[in-house]
Amino acid sequence: MPDLNDATRGRILYGGDYNPEQWPEETWQEDVRLMRQAGVTSVTVGVFSWARLEPAPGAYDFDWLDRLLDLLHAHGIGVVLATPTASPPPWLGHRHPETLPQAENGTTVWYGSRNQFCASSPEYRRRAAAITERLAARYGAHPALTMWHVNNEYGTHCWCDETAAHFRRWLQHRHGTLEELNSAWGTAFWSQHYAEWDEILPPRQAQYIRNPAQLLDFARFTSDALLECYTAEHAIVARHSPAIPVTTNHMPFWRGQDGWAWAKQQDAVALDIYPDPDHALGAQHGALVQDLARSMAGGPWMLMEQATGAVNWRPVNRPKPHGLTRLWSLQAVARGADAICFFQWRQSRQGAEKFHSAMLPHSGPGHRTFREVTALGADLDRLGPAVSGTPVAADTALLHDWDAWWASEQPGRPSELLDYQENVTAWHRALWEANHTTDLAHPAADLTPYRLVVIPSLYLLTDAALDNLAAYVRTGGTLVAGYFTGVADHQDRIRPGGVDARLREVLGLAAVHQWWPLNADETLHCTTADGDTFESTLWAEELETAGAETVARYRDGELAGHPAVTRHAHGEGTAWYLSTRPAPDALRALLTRAAREAGLRPAAEHLPAGVEAVRRGGLLFLLNHGPQQVSCDLPGHWEDLLTGKPGTGTVTLERHGAAVLRPADLRPADLHPTAMYPAEQ
Ligand code: GLA
Ligand code: GLA
Repeated sequence: MPDLNDATRGRILYGGDYNPEQWPEETWQEDVRLMRQAGVTSVTVGVFSWARLEPAPGAYDFDWLDRLLDLLHAHGIGVVLATPTASPPPWLGHRHPETLPQAENGTTVWYGSRNQFCASSPEYRRRAAAITERLAARYGAHPALTMWHVNNEYGTHCWCDETAAHFRRWLQHRHGTLEELNSAWGTAFWSQHYAEWDEILPPRQAQYIRNPAQLLDFARFTSDALLECYTAEHAIVARHSPAIPVTTNHMPFWRGQDGWAWAKQQDAVALDIYPDPDHALGAQHGALVQDLARSMAGGPWMLMEQATGAVNWRPVNRPKPHGLTRLWSLQAVARGADAICFFQWRQSRQGAEKFHSAMLPHSGPGHRTFREVTALGADLDRLGPAVSGTPVAADTALLHDWDAWWASEQPGRPSELLDYQENVTAWHRALWEANHTTDLAHPAADLTPYRLVVIPSLYLLTDAALDNLAAYVRTGGTLVAGYFTGVADHQDRIRPGGVDARLREVLGLAAVHQWWPLNADETLHCTTADGDTFESTLWAEELETAGAETVARYRDGELAGHPAVTRHAHGEGTAWYLSTRPAPDALRALLTRAAREAGLRPAAEHLPAGVEAVRRGGLLFLLNHGPQQVSCDLPGHWEDLLTGKPGTGTVTLERHGAAVLRPADLRPADLHPTAMYPAEQ
């Protein structure tokens, strides 16, 4: 199977979405000239071109795309060619309304925007396969082609009758018999027992709380149904060009697709990232989703889309301050990206995204955006040979699972304030601020490469995952588990005892007697064994220990005197439990302590606040997210690959500045992903 390296070939790809059908062909000449000037090596073409390529059913027009691909090739620009199936033309919805999605209440989602297709519709699938087949047959051997991009940000949900029939087939495959399904869904509750398969529907709008196991299976089914659409198109393009890697672009930390399952079907993982430049933790959001993309890919990944400035879909859309596009692009490279691309090349003058920024803005190439884009192209060109294809050093894993996300965020639970993504973000932030580079991992994945494993909260854990965690700790791993973990099984049945017995044994807990979620404005105080105090929010639990040491106790509220944080030696390893959400500083202190005790060191030490450090392929990336210029003291001699200059002792980083340091005395062993320098010298 081909992979991203087959497209990058020792470079960092640079470019963006290119939608030339929005412009007269004269403009294309200026486009390619300016692309060359900006160092663009890769453009993604055809994402929304279905109506242009097939203006009427079965009538194809490829002439313009022939000219475009030839033009790009003549200028040395590679093409990521998209199948246009995310946005069917109006004729499809007009002639075949059954291809349009229906909402939970049965209303039709019409054409006039994009993404209006039902993943279960045989007619949609037939038409999507037909255009994909034509495209792949025509361009599969084109010399400009470097990658295939299937569809765009799969995410449409549907509750129509065709979906219902497809859902029933999926359920038959998963559960086998109606008896099993009734048992898995707990239909004895509220008289929901199904006597015939045909009675079963997608969870449509209902009078009151819907069956949680049905909702969980429907989330799984929808991810699988969309994945079937992806794999069908993947198979077509791969048949015509077996050496060209195939991808689709994921939305960052997107609830609707099981990213672990999807990544297995893709040759390369591509992600769209739009952190809010006005959010104090925008950089951390970027780091989190980059860590997820790298972990899904199991190595280098592709940043398919980001913005040079403002987006057009927030309530207030502000540009990025000078330098931020470069800083966040280098952050993505540090965290494993081998392609840095934007939405989009030339800013649209019409349509829904005319206020969305682009590489080439309305104001033209004289604008500072284009100058920044051009400078970034040069930076990436310099870094490519040293960076492309190399691994990122991470010895911590944060466990994440879409099943747990889907099951935990349902109505009728202890607290709606426990928001899966917010919770993961808070725990990741603690590790990010301490410069402990973190992979994300599925709870049943091989955890042996990691010395520290953290679980922000995984309400649902399968038997396989629980056995995996127990074995990990028993054989010497350090686990830090958070509140409301190990509560339900794979079908969202509460486990005997409220929290799984295997997990309690690992944690040294006799019982979790009660969950005590906190109100939004409520803060508790906890006291450590050393007499320190920290605040906590969100959640608390009434614990009874059985062998675990109490690291901190609740000081006030109903739980005063009860353990809040525990630590337990189990087998060769150690397992911590946090029954509450410590304030950010305290969470960082606890995770840093667990990491230190596990023998971990951060990517670099003693850095000024706001400086992110990441090690990739024997290089140390330093990224200044703080508001002003800083100096970092680092032992050793190095070369800064961005400036080409040698240095020693101190690295100065401007506001939004970055350095990519290669030790002058680099030995082959330093290229090992876990090599520690220069902090340990
Ligand atoms: C109502 C209903 C019960 C149960 C409770 C839960 O009283 O009649 O069946 O749902 O609410 O609070
Ligand atoms: C997504 C889409 C793009 C564009 C951008 C705008 O990433 O894939 O087509 O709409 O959002 O931010």
